[in-house]
Amino acid sequence: MAKERLIEALNDLVAVEIAAVTEYQQHAYLIDDPKMIDLLEDFSMDEMAHIEYFSREVARLGGIPTVIPKQIKHAGETDNELLQRDVHVEADAIKRLTEYMKLAEEEGAPRIKKLLEDVRADEIVHHDMLEAQLNPPKDFWGKMRNSMDIGSGLILTGLFWLYFWVFQWYVFFLFDARWAHNFAYPLILLTIGVAYKGKKMSTDLLASISAFMIIPTETGLISGTHSTYIVSIILLIILVLLVTERGKKQELLFFQHRSRRWLKKHLLTFAFLFLLHMPFLYWVTRVIFGEPAELNMPPEPPWERAYWGTASYNILVIPFALIGMAERFRGTLRRRISISKIGYWWSLLIIIAGVITIGATSGDWLRYSAPLVIAVIILILSIVAHKK
Ligand SMILES: [Fe+2]
Ligand SMILES: [Fe+2]
Repeated sequence: MAKERLIEALNDLVAVEIAAVTEYQQHAYLIDDPKMIDLLEDFSMDEMAHIEYFSREVARLGGIPTVIPKQIKHAGETDNELLQRDVHVEADAIKRLTEYMKLAEEEGAPRIKKLLEDVRADEIVHHDMLEAQLNPPKDFWGKMRNSMDIGSGLILTGLFWLYFWVFQWYVFFLFDARWAHNFAYPLILLTIGVAYKGKKMSTDLLASISAFMIIPTETGLISGTHSTYIVSIILLIILVLLVTERGKKQELLFFQHRSRRWLKKHLLTFAFLFLLHMPFLYWVTRVIFGEPAELNMPPEPPWERAYWGTASYNILVIPFALIGMAERFRGTLRRRISISKIGYWWSLLIIIAGVITIGATSGDWLRYSAPLVIAVIILILSIVAHKK
């Protein structure tokens, strides 16, 4: 008897999910905003996975998973009407899941309860993201919280790095042009961050080409100066593309459904993979196996105090790049914590650890106090925005 009630509940959810998949698909065809299309398609795939989880449970309990959807509705035509319907469907799913979690508890089925809890967490993410699309936050803290993602993290890290080389250490570059890679690298970070924010295939592609430049630069195959020219031009093109493509319904680069989905997911994964080559080449090639091609790349041995800042960055950027790749695969960690947000916090760690290392190894705290103070202010503002 207990089984019957669980089978009925799970099948009710299967029916709800089938309807949701169908509606999300329809809304993705109707909606104009390319970013929203991607979001809705992603959600519809999540719902498909939910159908699978619940159907398997029904089968395991000896029932027959239903194939009949719940009532499907034509929500309307405007983007707003469609999104409102999606929010409603998600809220309804959350309500049912909460109710059935109680049922699973009563029936002594902790595994099913856990499954329902996980799926509910997915639906809450869906619900909140759609709700945020419908009613974007208007206050400062809400806007700030929304912008705290791995893209902002990359941009901030790039800006801090540039600050040091433009305002503090430019003279080192004047003495030795091999330090020019310190202009190219932060520009690459900026580029990936801007592309992350822009969410367009053309700019994602350019960002991964820019990130690829890390390999010839770090090995000393090309000079830091040439590398800086190349990545600057790419960044400029990206900015022009973002401005000109703004508000346009059709993207410059357009592929058919599956290729587009694959590229959208993976182009920035490549960018993060190339970013990972920075520490790979630094630790494995340059530190362990010897000097880079010294004509273009100066040695920066981590056992010398002066290079502890470099070393700190090259340790902390490893998890950062991995976080970036993980985020492309799955938006949430344990279905609750946004991976993109983790990337943002990690970038603040990279910045603050970097500035502190520089201050400590040079002993010249006064000289580096400005960036440290700014970094701490950003950290405090972020914590406040997060808590609100
Ligand atoms: Fe679902
Ligand atoms: Fe959902």
